[in-house]
Amino acid sequence: MKSNKTILVTGSNGQLGKTIQKKSLKKKEFDWIFLPKEDLNITKVVEIKKAFKKYNPKFCINCAAFTDVTKSEKLPSKAHKINVQGVKNLTRVCNSNNCIMIHISTDYVFDGTKKSPYLVNDKANPLNKYGLTKYLSEKHVVENANFGYIVRTSWLYSENYGHNFYRNILRKASNGEEIKVVKDQYGTPTNTETVADFIIKIILSLPKKGIYHCAGEEVMSWYDFANKIVMENKYPSKIIPVNSKYGPVKRPLYSALKNSKL
Ligand SMILES: NC(=O)c1ccc[n+]([C@@H]2O[C@H](COP(=O)([O-])OP(=O)(O)OC[C@H]3O[C@@H](n4cnc5c(N)ncnc54)[C@H](OP(=O)(O)O)[C@@H]3O)[C@@H](O)[C@H]2O)c1
Repeated sequence: MKSNKTILVTGSNGQLGKTIQKKSLKKKEFDWIFLPKEDLNITKVVEIKKAFKKYNPKFCINCAAFTDVTKSEKLPSKAHKINVQGVKNLTRVCNSNNCIMIHISTDYVFDGTKKSPYLVNDKANPLNKYGLTKYLSEKHVVENANFGYIVRTSWLYSENYGHNFYRNILRKASNGEEIKVVKDQYGTPTNTETVADFIIKIILSLPKKGIYHCAGEEVMSWYDFANKIVMENKYPSKIIPVNSKYGPVKRPLYSALKNSKL
């Protein structure tokens, strides 16, 4: 069945995908198709073409990604296959089906040398393999998608879904564990609800194509964020600040994003 209100969401079992699924229940004017990796692997063009033939989406929200920053260092070709080649595949099929693509990217495209929130046109210079794959995917969408949006977000977390910093801290705090948290990296923690709302706003308002920033309003360190989480949930704080130089992967020391207006 053809419909110009069909929205296809890839990687729909991730934390952002699940949040969009929840939001979709209140957006019944659209036909929502949620495809987890098992039903649509974005590294397989045949699967993408098959899904597009079946659902003929007007919008494709790409929530599929290899998001493990540490594993991306050890498995760079896997990260590249999903985060770059997968996005190239989607862009190609979106173009040939007149589908508007909404791709999600990250603050880790920046090197963290700035002292104020990054603007959309600031120069990208990723420090790690994950950031590099996401930067290459952005570049491909900007240069090749007939109609493409990039939504960059940062320090994404959901209180309800997936593996993320928020839920990790809460789990450890509820077990009474002492938790070591990095104190010298600053960013803008972002709830998946905020990004899901932003994406829906893009679909409803169709601003000019290009890159947009969507992040939380408060700049803080991981240590500050951990303290905020335990305090809000009324656990005693056993958070111990540590220095990031002992971490296994190079990450930007400052990657706050300045939000785009829609
Ligand atoms: N998490 C963050 O802190 C953060 C920060 C900034 C930007 N972002 C970006 O935000 C977007 C959403 O991230 P998220 O946190 O929701 O990630 P997530 O929870 O890790 O979800 C990603 C989903 O993609 C699936 N996936 C992996 N390979 C796939 C493939 N080849 N084909 C289809 N699906 C595949 C994963 O399935 P499996 O788990 O089964 O592999 C998972 O369900 C990503 O583009 C990410 O780069 C995330």
